[in-house]
Amino acid sequence: MTDSVKPADLEKMNGTSLDIAEQRRRELKQLLPGVFTETTGQDGQPVETIDFERLKAELGTVSDVYEGRRERYGMEWPGKRDCMKLIQEPSRATLKPCREESVDFDTTQNLFIEGDNLEVLKLLQKSYYGKVKMIYIDPPYNTGKEFIYPDKYSESLETYLAYAGLVDDEGKKFSTNTATEGRFHSRWLNMMFPRLYLARNLLREDGVVFISIDDNEVDNLRRMCDEIFGEENFLANVVWQKTYSPANDKKGIDAMHDYVLCYRKTELFENNLLPRTEQQNKAYQNLDDDPRGPWKAVDATRAEHRDYAYYPIVTPSGREVFPAQGRSWVFTKEEVDGLIHENRLWFGKDGNSKPSIKRFLTEVKDGVVPTTWWSHEVAGHNDEAKKEVKKLFPDINPFSTPKPTRLIERLAQITLNEGDVCLDFFAGSCTTAHALMKYVVQEKKAVSFIMVQLPEPLEKESEQYKKGYKNIADIGKERIRRAARDLSSTGGEGIDEDEMPDFGLKVLKLDQSNFRQWCMSSSEASEQDLVQKMEAHIAHIDQGVSQETVLYELLLKAGFKPTDKIDELMLLDKRVFSIADGALLICLEEELTSELIDAVADLEPMQFICLDKGFKGNDQLKANAVQTFKSRSQGAETEMVFKVV
Ligand SMILES: C[S@@+](CC[C@H](N)C(=O)[O-])C[C@H]1O[C@@H](n2cnc3c(N)ncnc32)[C@H](O)[C@@H]1O
Repeated sequence: MTDSVKPADLEKMNGTSLDIAEQRRRELKQLLPGVFTETTGQDGQPVETIDFERLKAELGTVSDVYEGRRERYGMEWPGKRDCMKLIQEPSRATLKPCREESVDFDTTQNLFIEGDNLEVLKLLQKSYYGKVKMIYIDPPYNTGKEFIYPDKYSESLETYLAYAGLVDDEGKKFSTNTATEGRFHSRWLNMMFPRLYLARNLLREDGVVFISIDDNEVDNLRRMCDEIFGEENFLANVVWQKTYSPANDKKGIDAMHDYVLCYRKTELFENNLLPRTEQQNKAYQNLDDDPRGPWKAVDATRAEHRDYAYYPIVTPSGREVFPAQGRSWVFTKEEVDGLIHENRLWFGKDGNSKPSIKRFLTEVKDGVVPTTWWSHEVAGHNDEAKKEVKKLFPDINPFSTPKPTRLIERLAQITLNEGDVCLDFFAGSCTTAHALMKYVVQEKKAVSFIMVQLPEPLEKESEQYKKGYKNIADIGKERIRRAARDLSSTGGEGIDEDEMPDFGLKVLKLDQSNFRQWCMSSSEASEQDLVQKMEAHIAHIDQGVSQETVLYELLLKAGFKPTDKIDELMLLDKRVFSIADGALLICLEEELTSELIDAVADLEPMQFICLDKGFKGNDQLKANAVQTFKSRSQGAETEMVFKVV
């Protein structure tokens, strides 16, 4: 055995999601390294701490720093402090692949994740940190009728497993958030805050989030988003006309609109223009058969008097015309002759009117700047949305509150470019996925989606249930499959087989870890738990679990995407999985050899993960393996990380 390396040096893989507090400290350290210092911990060992005095000094004069004693502006509600605990509690769960429900499982970039979105957002932190271009969500509006998922920071996975019927639920009740229950708004805010906080981490620096909401929570949501995204990143509160005619039997004032609240991650966000509509182009005509094509007459004066721009112009009919009182021409006297010569001024059909400027359609921008008013003509309406879903499910009414695909296509047009990823973690019937597939066909830009949806149960007596859909996630998945089939038969006409857009779907399901030692938080472990944990160490992978399931847990927790390419290699008769073209190598064989370790190291992966039990207790083999990766890393550009599980 070498002197420098012991088997204990071998790094154990961490089975949790990203440690959010640790990540924030790392970011702060990068920004302000000077505020970190070392003190002695309770065990006498040096520990890294933050020097708050230095932090205050870095941030400005002490009087500028809020110290908790004075009144301050901000948003508070009961339970807000626990939201931070909920965010910081790492997830020990996993996402299990489900081939049977997927389409093009091995090649697609599109994901459908069934589960509570809080746990799922935590699990996506390592692999999608800063990678998502657009988030669209349509959360429960808090009308008193919807179910608000009960978050418990100490047992969130257990709550989910009971909810989804994956363990005995011992009669646990999950109810809707009714206005009479009290703490009505705070319960909703407590549900939304951690999710939006974690979602922000996933956005790219030039990313953007869109949130559908109505009058019930729009004010609270805006103030909460100001806090999470920063007031300076507020982009707009779009008013979307959700209905096309008022409900005349309603008392009071009928709301015909919803909002779409828009925040960017940073100032790096740049929107695309919206395509010009037929209606907008109609204003361009060609009254004088100009060979440059259709044009529109625009005012040739401005609303201010300037002596140098107030002069007579002679019309073709021979009349002298001036701008109206208090106005001036937009061009100088010297420019007029050139404009007339180029036939860029329009004096009316009879050549006797005051001139206007001819603005040619070919010279205007390709698109139009989005505004905050989206009529149902341009973005669809609620009835249209229901019809779209009904068309795919002619025999049932699958979902009562879908959004129209045109609304989300419009958001995509403003935001998405080739290769971008879009996330919706309140997916419902998966309108977002449907809209994006339509967008891919129309715009010929390959974008992919991640849908997250709770398996919210459907009533046993409901028509959906009787047709085999047990929960809303079942409806969402089936809608994607049906919409894909529909679009490939209609939108795919004339497209070559190898140029067919990605209409696939990889289904993953939230579940407890396959590694028993990762299923439990050490801080909560009781004596009995610890005994179980030690026993679990002996055979620490759940029996009967497929290699693929274990593989997905490992690659996710190593920070790779579930859509990354997976190849199977045979090295010295042992199976090694190569993820993302060899960036990560995983070997789940139960007997490792030094020749195999050498062969893996020869492939120079960024990370290699194998099973601890593969060493069969051979400390010499382990130490040599650690040494092999250490020495190979020394000359290499990037360090090769070697971990066991
Ligand atoms: C208003 S619907 C979204 C409708 C969707 N935009 C569409 O067009 O079909 C909100 C959805 O969020 C889901 N949901 C609520 N809480 C959730 C949670 N904690 N995790 C995942 N999904 C959740 C509900 O089941 C519901 O289907």
